[in-house]
Amino acid sequence: MIALKHDTIRPYGHTDTTKKEEVEHMFDNIAHRYDFLNHLLSAGIDHTWRKKAVNYIGEIHPKIIADLATGTGDFAMESARLNPTKIIGIDISDEMMHYGRIKTKNKKYDFIEFIKGDSEKLEFDDNYFDAMTVGFGVRNYQNLEQGLTEMKRILRTNGRLVILEVSIPKNTLMKFIFNIYFNYFCPFIGRLFSKDVRAYTYLNESVNAFPSGKNFTDILEKIGFRNVVWKPLTFGICAMYTCEK
Ligand SMILES: C[S@@+](CC[C@H](N)C(=O)[O-])C[C@H]1O[C@@H](n2cnc3c(N)ncnc32)[C@H](O)[C@@H]1O
Repeated sequence: MIALKHDTIRPYGHTDTTKKEEVEHMFDNIAHRYDFLNHLLSAGIDHTWRKKAVNYIGEIHPKIIADLATGTGDFAMESARLNPTKIIGIDISDEMMHYGRIKTKNKKYDFIEFIKGDSEKLEFDDNYFDAMTVGFGVRNYQNLEQGLTEMKRILRTNGRLVILEVSIPKNTLMKFIFNIYFNYFCPFIGRLFSKDVRAYTYLNESVNAFPSGKNFTDILEKIGFRNVVWKPLTFGICAMYTCEK
């Protein structure tokens, strides 16, 4: 497995912890503010991105869906409209899923289950899922290729995977606005509302280090996914990656 630059970007940079431990700790720390800040900082556009992504997996009428790095479960809840028999949200952060469980209980989505787990080492049989979603999670994996290989293992043949990730726009003006927003505005608001000072600076660093666009589709193809396509959304501030096993 290649050690990608993004693997070395981590929330706190301690010498005695792994990136994974730090990511888990950080999301546990900010979980109580995550939904509020997420929707504030994205002005609610993230809902439209998840809708588009779910439309893609909806074309194969999946019955068993995994939402990896599910966090507070927004992607899992968006997939609920596909009428699957089961959706499993998986995350390393118990605190994030705590808020997800409250939301799904309130909406009476009893076919959505949350399980603590590491996307890079999943305890499911090969070919178990019909479809898989990952929203703003792969950037945080400690070993990106390991995580993608595991995801391919548990996805059935012809099953679909859709990944959403923040990306840096190509257009010069948009890039300028994006940089101001991510370098200054997000860390400022993040610091104001969450008790974790590093979390929203890490957000910016991890986006910058992530192999986005063609670099990421090359990795997906190398892992063995087929029909890999990426599409910039909202002036390229988000990227949607779609593929099949
Ligand atoms: C930015 S949040 C995204 C949450 C949600 N998917 C969404 O669309 O809002 C990233 C999530 O990825 C989770 N995560 C990071 N690395 C993970 C891993 N290796 N396995 C499982 N979850 C992971 C974090 O705990 C966090 O909840």
